[in-house]
Amino acid sequence: MINYDFDLPYERRGTDSEKWRAFGNEVLPLWVADMDFPAPPAVLQALHERVAHGIFGYGGVTAELSEAICHRLWEHYHWTVTPDQLLFLPGLVSGLNISCRAVCPPGAGVLVQTPIYPPFLSAPVNQGLHLNIAELLVTRSKQWLHYSIDYNAFEAAIQSHTRLFMLCNPHNPVGRCYTREELINLAEICTRNDLIICSDEIHCDLLLENSSHLPIASLSLEIAKRCITLMAPSKTFNIAGLYCGFAIIQNPSLRKQYQLAAQGIVPEVNLLGLTAALAAYKNGETWHKELMVYLNGNRNFFTDYVQEHLPMLRTTIPEGTFLAWLNCSATGIIGNQHEFFLNQAKVALNDGQRFGQGGNDFVRLNFGCSRSTLTQALMQMKFALATLN
Ligand SMILES: Cc1ncc(COP(=O)(O)O)c(C=O)c1O
Repeated sequence: MINYDFDLPYERRGTDSEKWRAFGNEVLPLWVADMDFPAPPAVLQALHERVAHGIFGYGGVTAELSEAICHRLWEHYHWTVTPDQLLFLPGLVSGLNISCRAVCPPGAGVLVQTPIYPPFLSAPVNQGLHLNIAELLVTRSKQWLHYSIDYNAFEAAIQSHTRLFMLCNPHNPVGRCYTREELINLAEICTRNDLIICSDEIHCDLLLENSSHLPIASLSLEIAKRCITLMAPSKTFNIAGLYCGFAIIQNPSLRKQYQLAAQGIVPEVNLLGLTAALAAYKNGETWHKELMVYLNGNRNFFTDYVQEHLPMLRTTIPEGTFLAWLNCSATGIIGNQHEFFLNQAKVALNDGQRFGQGGNDFVRLNFGCSRSTLTQALMQMKFALATLN
């Protein structure tokens, strides 16, 4: 039975939406990673009730929320996590930055796989650390791009000063959900080189078609000892603006280090974020299931459209996330591709150059929107490209 209508148009122009206001009213924004859908009704109801109470003094994490998260981790991954192993965060970008502060002494290196979500590149630099870059391997079959791990490049990027590997799984922007075998290989290399792993798994519930997610820390108790796992309900239930996330750290001394690195700098989570998280995890599953059917439809619509109408573009077929990663090198666009689509097609995409090595000639497209917005944006891109020859 279908309960939620993701085709319903919602006007976000003229609201506080960063996505919709950054480039003006005439531009269709398919860039920043939030979706154009209202949160699940259960979340809206819980927020209404909380607001109606009217008192907004300091809040705190309830046992009910911690237990709901632990229960979910067991149900989804057979991963045993206890409430004391959770540290709540006002956003996962903070989580990445705290990981760098907590783990790395001055002059240390942080390993990342590019192309990658830009805060992975800025977090080490914010802490005065070195970036060690291992580029992912990309192969092409017809129009389709597939990314995999180049283990030689990964090992070669590890230097004597490298202390931390920041993994993104599912990977933004390339849409990979890493397999058990890939995660075992990465964990083995990190163990051999004594690296701590910070695994950002914010997109772990956005699994397309038959993909599955495996937290790297759930592979074994030994691996868990070197892991900081970052998760949040924010992408899954479209509540990113409420800033509620958490780190799972099972090694007590690593957890203490993490708490110390955050102390006095990182605020508590806003109480509306906590309310929304609890409602989402407890009562948002039907909505989430239907969302995934819709996003899967959008992904398939997008790849079919690219195949039929945009043969000069090459794209990933994402396994997870609502993000596609497009190579424009065969389009004939002169200059910056993001600016071309912004100015000529009136469609805002993310500029691939900001995703580090391997991002040149790419743009990232967010298909977490209604099918009609997606169709309109793709048509505008098609017409803009048609003017090129
Ligand atoms: C991999 C990844 N991590 C973190 C974030 C942002 O997290 P937050 O808004 O909780 O800081 C995003 C948002 O796009 C993301 O894709």
